[in-house]
Amino acid sequence: MSLTQGNTMTSHTDASSDAADSGSVTRAAQAVLAQSTDRGGGVQMIGIDKIYPGSGSKALDDFNLEVKPGEMVVLLGGSGCGKSTALRSIAGLEDIQSGRILVGGQDMTAVPANKRGMAMVFQAYSLFPHMSALENVEFGLEIRGVGSEERRRRAMEKLDLVGLADQAAKYTQQMSGGQQQRVALARALAINPKVLLLDEPLSALDAKVRVQLRDEIRRIQIEAGTTTVFVTHDQEEALAIADRIGVMNHGRIEQIADPVTLYREPATEYVATFIGLTNRLPGHSDGTQAEVFGQRIPLLKGSRTGDVTVLVRPENIALIAADSEQDAPKADREGLNGTEARVNVIHFLGALVRVDAVLTGSGTPLTIQLPAGELPPSLNTGSTVLVAPRPVPALAV
Ligand SMILES: Nc1ncnc2c1ncn2[C@@H]1O[C@H](COP(=O)(O)OP(=O)(O)OP(=O)(O)O)[C@@H](O)[C@H]1O
Ligand SMILES: [Mg+2]
Repeated sequence: MSLTQGNTMTSHTDASSDAADSGSVTRAAQAVLAQSTDRGGGVQMIGIDKIYPGSGSKALDDFNLEVKPGEMVVLLGGSGCGKSTALRSIAGLEDIQSGRILVGGQDMTAVPANKRGMAMVFQAYSLFPHMSALENVEFGLEIRGVGSEERRRRAMEKLDLVGLADQAAKYTQQMSGGQQQRVALARALAINPKVLLLDEPLSALDAKVRVQLRDEIRRIQIEAGTTTVFVTHDQEEALAIADRIGVMNHGRIEQIADPVTLYREPATEYVATFIGLTNRLPGHSDGTQAEVFGQRIPLLKGSRTGDVTVLVRPENIALIAADSEQDAPKADREGLNGTEARVNVIHFLGALVRVDAVLTGSGTPLTIQLPAGELPPSLNTGSTVLVAPRPVPALAV
């Protein structure tokens, strides 16, 4: 790609106005987007229906998804909701009954899997055990007719990217699970796929390796600018790596948004309970506000009216303790009306503390989360405290 002097100057001007306008795409992001547009752009799935032979229900039911060029979208949902089916449909590994799949604006619906220019990594490593790491990574290039020198160069480059350059000669059966999954990732990236598809690639690994490799996959994905769809049922994994998360239920995406929006503004009860912890508190709603324990809480769009259950995050409940074990807790601190509760268990989670309590009158269970530094010193199992939901927008269902 060559730039004329004029173009170069224009892009300098753009860069300085970018800095002033925080809403626009940065130059680094533009470069990533341009690169991945060269490579094939984003993915669109439009109105996909999938029914497995002999099954009475749809595995995908009018499924719609748009993945932007260079973006990492995570499909999150419980077992059987259709995540793998959606991914396999993009790859061309499933016959779909209706709908269209576009990549970079081109209709791929009738294109066979091996002509779609995609790479997939599965939960099981699916490597050749009697081949070295290098041979495994070279394999995909070999079947695409890439010459031996070029093959070796590209394979080594990808092994280096996943941190395994010094293990290239090792048989994959002699490698740890995390290393094998790195080889699988290098093999997928070696063919410079238009789209990278990852189906629970970390679920066979132990917790520590999982987090390490998760962060590495994200780094590599950003560096390579590869449009990626990542499937998991682990919400923490999804929140940690996604540009956007699509929460799936019964063969559809129930809500798709960036992690912060999804957490703060869940559109449905399913999404609110699937992402993060939530308390279910009884209240009365007029559609825009609810009264919960005498406290008024603004409501999110889509909230119900009348007698409702208000879904309140644990960090959005204030806990007011007595100054000492002899005192009673005082209301009106933070300007909130409190309701009496009894502390059952205090869980120390390092930087955070989670307090399980029950309301004194109704026995309604409550979970409250606060920074460890804000834990009142007099708080113990059995303490009586006042609790009050903070006026942070919540969903009433
Ligand atoms: N080959 C198949 N034949 C028949 N039904 C299938 C087949 N594969 C999946 N299904 C059904 O389709 C639905 C969606 O399955 P899918 O594998 O996409 O779910 P998933 O979200 O990936 O679940 P998990 O988290 O357990 O991997 C399920 O009800 C499942 O039983
Ligand atoms: Mg699956």
